[in-house]
Amino acid sequence: MGRNVLRIQECIARNKEPTGHGSLDYDTVQDRRCAELDQLRADISTGRENMRKTTNWVAGITAAGIVLVGIAFLSAPAKADTAAAEATYKAKCAMCHGADGKGETATGKAMKVKDFASEDVQKMSDADLTDAIAKGKAKMPAFKTLTPDQVKDLVAYVRSFGKKK
Ligand code: HEC
Repeated sequence: MGRNVLRIQECIARNKEPTGHGSLDYDTVQDRRCAELDQLRADISTGRENMRKTTNWVAGITAAGIVLVGIAFLSAPAKADTAAAEATYKAKCAMCHGADGKGETATGKAMKVKDFASEDVQKMSDADLTDAIAKGKAKMPAFKTLTPDQVKDLVAYVRSFGKKK
């Protein structure tokens, strides 16, 4: 690199000298040095180009990484809600509707609860399912302590039994 710097300086210095000094040898040396300099300039710009490509590549990977982290963050609450709904269901609903939603528990059978996977339940609208949970239905008690979000997640959970079939 030190030698290259010297060549650049020589070329620049000689270019600055007045032209028409008449020495052919001198011109040849200068031309060769300047040609080397041009080559050097080309090498440097190729280097920059490669550097730019590498930078783009790194930027691309970084962007992809950020997107992945973003997706992980966005999907995390959804997973947590399903888990929360499952926990609520097991604590408050499974004794009648069964962990599998089929309602094959002693209480479920006595109250004649329907299989959540059945068409009868799955054809009900989200509003009907929401009402059944929040306001109660037939012998099912109303679950007034549940938040609207919890009820919404439970509706999705009840729907999931239909999809598993
Ligand atoms: C004491 C038993 C019992 C408990 C606890 C219970 N249910 Fe029910 N559930 C019933 C009965 C009985 C019905 C009415 C079945 C019918 O007559 O259609 C019903 C109906 C439903 C329906 C409407 C679908 C249908 O079959 O008519 C949904 C949705 C539902 N329950 C969800 C839940 C959820 C979610 C929980 C927990 C938060 C829960 N239930 C807790 C007994 C219970």
